[in-house]
Order: sequence, then structure tokens, then C-alpha cells
Amino acid sequence: MATIPAIAFSEIAQPRSGTLVLMAGEGGALGRFGAGLDKKAGGAVTRAIKAAKFNGKSGSALDVWAPGDLGLARIIVVGIGEPADMQEGDWLKLGGRIMTRLRAGSGDGATVVLEMPAGKEVSADMAADAALGLKLRSYGFDKYKTRKKSEDEAEGDRDGEVSKVTFALAEPAAARRAFVARDKVAGGVLLARDLVNEPANSLGPKEFTKKAQALSKLGVAVEVLTEKELKRLKMEALLAVGQGSERPPRLVVMRWNGARDKKAAPVAFVGKGVVFDTGGISIKPAGHMEDMKGDMGGAAAVTGLMQALAARKAKVNAIGVIGLVENMPDGKAQRPGDIVRSMSGQTIEVINTDAEGRMVLADALWHTQKKFKPRFMVNLATLTGAVIVALGHHRAGLFSNNDELAERLAAAGEATGEKLWRLPLGKEYDKQIDSKNADMKNAAGRHAGAITAAQFLQRFVDNVPWAHLDIAGTAMDSPANEINQSWGSGFGVRLLDRLVADHYEE
Ligand code: BES
Ligand code: MN
Ligand code: ZN
Repeated sequence: MATIPAIAFSEIAQPRSGTLVLMAGEGGALGRFGAGLDKKAGGAVTRAIKAAKFNGKSGSALDVWAPGDLGLARIIVVGIGEPADMQEGDWLKLGGRIMTRLRAGSGDGATVVLEMPAGKEVSADMAADAALGLKLRSYGFDKYKTRKKSEDEAEGDRDGEVSKVTFALAEPAAARRAFVARDKVAGGVLLARDLVNEPANSLGPKEFTKKAQALSKLGVAVEVLTEKELKRLKMEALLAVGQGSERPPRLVVMRWNGARDKKAAPVAFVGKGVVFDTGGISIKPAGHMEDMKGDMGGAAAVTGLMQALAARKAKVNAIGVIGLVENMPDGKAQRPGDIVRSMSGQTIEVINTDAEGRMVLADALWHTQKKFKPRFMVNLATLTGAVIVALGHHRAGLFSNNDELAERLAAAGEATGEKLWRLPLGKEYDKQIDSKNADMKNAAGRHAGAITAAQFLQRFVDNVPWAHLDIAGTAMDSPANEINQSWGSGFGVRLLDRLVADHYEE
């Protein structure tokens, strides 16, 4: 079902079989090639456009089955609205929509003619964006489904596999070149989705570590710190979270040195990787607890990003750090009231063992800035339910001690559609996490829960530009859209790849 199609680019020519996709503007206006084809088909396409009252608005589409004597199984006309109104993100969405349409019916051997009405050029970037959208949309998590197409869909044969899609346009070579890097980024997104979707029984800290180690094939140096080394480094906050699990924690450091100056300070990305979050002794209610298999969405995004940067040979030095732990209730688990000493030396009173992500990040952030002296640190975490209350599933929370970094991140969010919204930090909020018994407490009640979590993290950030992305609402269970139909979205990979590409490559 969820075959990822092979993608190719060619010049515009008439295929003799399979499915052909044409673009139409307002009122169903076709481009030159489309109009010529319609003529060869005896006007079958324009007649269908009229009969169906197809208006060509963005989002509309029309199937014309076996038109004329062309040999084609189907022509799909997709509406793009007013060509001049097409924005960057619209090409991505268009590609996704085409994928949906191809699947609904025997779609194999599809050719997408990228030609706008009224002679408007389709650039290489537009074409490559459409191809990226199509690829992202084609992903599905079905590795555990044993009843596949042949049994399920024997009657009717409606839902088609799409094994290859060719984009046809005036300048295919430039589009092919523009797609190379996007294709690598797509690979990173799909890796992140796979990791988030994978259940915790098959993806513990050890198994996740193996996935990260696989990046060494791309030239990423991967360092794995096991429990013994974490103890030696005094990462007690991270270790405390994992102590109730049979599966010991790991901290994995991925390093991509793509800059010409191999000694240049790296950019750093840090991910929360709680492979499963039961809440620990402060156990969560049963409803939807299964979703907590995705509580490693931050670590998944960092791993997907590092794969993308390495695969497209980004000219940047980048570090990815992921803290992998499982939060379980057990005789050995940490208790509310426990006080632990973080690697930084600051002590934490554990009020709620379900506020575990911040404890993992406390040590991961500290280690990252001390060891690697990065230009900046961005951490990603499915950190709080409160950020979902504030922003829903449409935007991730952005917190930062640095306006330039925050603005760059927000702009990358708008450009990629992985949108952020900045929320405040401040002394008043910081006071909420003071503790009577230790330097701070890990939970501060319901009010401003996303902000107090961010304040906690900030106590482990020294003088380095830093941003925290709370992706609890966007990494998983976000609404399906044109380019993602999967529960795990891979949120953060395209966003941060864009941040790097726009500002931090040579
Ligand atoms: N992993 C959760 C946050 C979460 C909730 C992510 C829902 C995705 C969907 C986090 O570890 C957590 O439990 N946070 C608590 C913090 C509280 C105890 C201070 C929360 O948000 O309720
Ligand atoms: Mn929790
Ligand atoms: Zn959690």
C-alpha cells in the first residue's frame, strides 16, 4: 500500500499508457500541451470539464477515464487556481494532492505534466517542491500489517500502488538537480516518522541507538554513552528518569563535519528521547497512554535532521545529541520528593515523575554546551500537554533567549509550513520553579505549564544562544494534511534543515 514511488523528471511528451496528470487554472483552462492532447482525444477533456462543472480552483481535481484513443487509462486534471497566486508552499501541497489522487484508482505509470495555463513558467524549484510533496504524502506506516493489498482489495482493484511518477516539464535537468537535496531531506523526514510511529516494545534506547549508528554510513561520527559513562559524567537527572526501566538509558552524539573549516564551532540540536513515558510513579491515566510511544519525537527529529544534513552534504558542522530513556514505574523508579543532582551541579526536587523530559534535557543541554561550545543550541521535545492547550496541533511552541535565533526559526517555520509561535520567558515564571528543598523543582502546577517547563530548561543554558521547541502537539497526532497522512509527522526536520541552509552554511 505505502510504496514510496520512484521519482523521475523528463521533457514533456505524450505517454502511451498509464495515468497522465494535467494542471488547470481558474475555469479549467489548460496549458498548451494539455490543450493539444485534448484535441487528439476529440475534446474528451474539455467536455468532461464542462460536464462536471470543474472550476479549476486550488484543491479541485477531475478524473477523465480512458479518454479518446490515446491509450491512457486516465487523465487527472488538477486545479491550481490563479497561477500567479501560487506560493512556495503551494507546490509542495500540490504534489501531495496529486499523490492522493493517483492512489485512488490504478495509478501506476503516472506522468505529471508541469505546465501552467497562459504560458507561465514552472521553475526547477517549483517542480522539485511538487516532487517532494508527492514523496512525503506517499509515506504510510504499515510494516505491521500482515493483510496487504492482495487480500483486502481483491474486488474492484481501486486502490492502486504507484511505483513510479515522472514529472514532465520544459527543463527537466534543472528540476532533477533541484530535487537531489530535497530528496535527502525527505529521507530524513521519513526516518523521523518511522521512529515516532514505531512502538516502544521494538524501539527502546538500545534499538534507537542502532538507528542513529546507521548514520555512520553517511559520514556521521556517532558516539554512544552507556549507563556507566553517564554515571561517570554525573548525569543524575537523566539517569533518575531511566532508573525504573529494565532498559538502561543512552546518550548518543551524532557529529557531521561538513564545513570547510572542520574546527569551526558547530550548530547543535538536542532531542528528548523518552522511548515511552508512563509517567513513572506519578503514573498517567490509561486513556491514550499508547501515544507516549511518540515521546521521543524530539530525538527522532534530531536524528532525521542529521541524516538529511549528511546525505545532502550540508556545508556546516552540526552536532545532534539525543537522550534516550524509558520512564517506567518500578521498585527502582524515582519517587516524588526525591532530590537529584544534575550534571551542572544544580539540584532538582522531583515533584512529579511525569515531568521527566526536562530532567533528561537538563543534562543533555549541559553536556552539549560544555563539550562542544556550539554557535547555538536548539532543543526539540514533546515536553508538555500545556503547549497543546495553548497552540493546539498547528504550531509548536518556541522559546528563546536570543531574538535573532528566534526570528530565524520562526521564518523557517513559515517557509516550510512547520510553524512556530513564540511564547515568553521571564523572571516571574522562573520563580514558579523555585523549590524549598532544592535549587529547583521539576513541576510547578498547571498555570503556564509550557513556560515553566521552558524556564526549567533555561536554567541549564549558560551564555549560548538557545531555543526550545515544544513539539508535543506537532510531532504526533497532528491532523493529516496534503503532505502527511501519518500519525508521526517528522516535524522539525524540514524546519531545521531550512534554518541551516538559510543561515549557517558556507
Ligand atoms: N510527554 C509528556 C508531554 C506530552 C503530553 C506530550 C501529551 C505529548 C502529548 C510530558 O513528559 C509530561 O508528561 N508532561 C507533563 C508535565 C507536568 C507533570 C508538569 C504534562 O504536560 O502534563
Ligand atoms: Mn511525562
Ligand atoms: Zn514525556
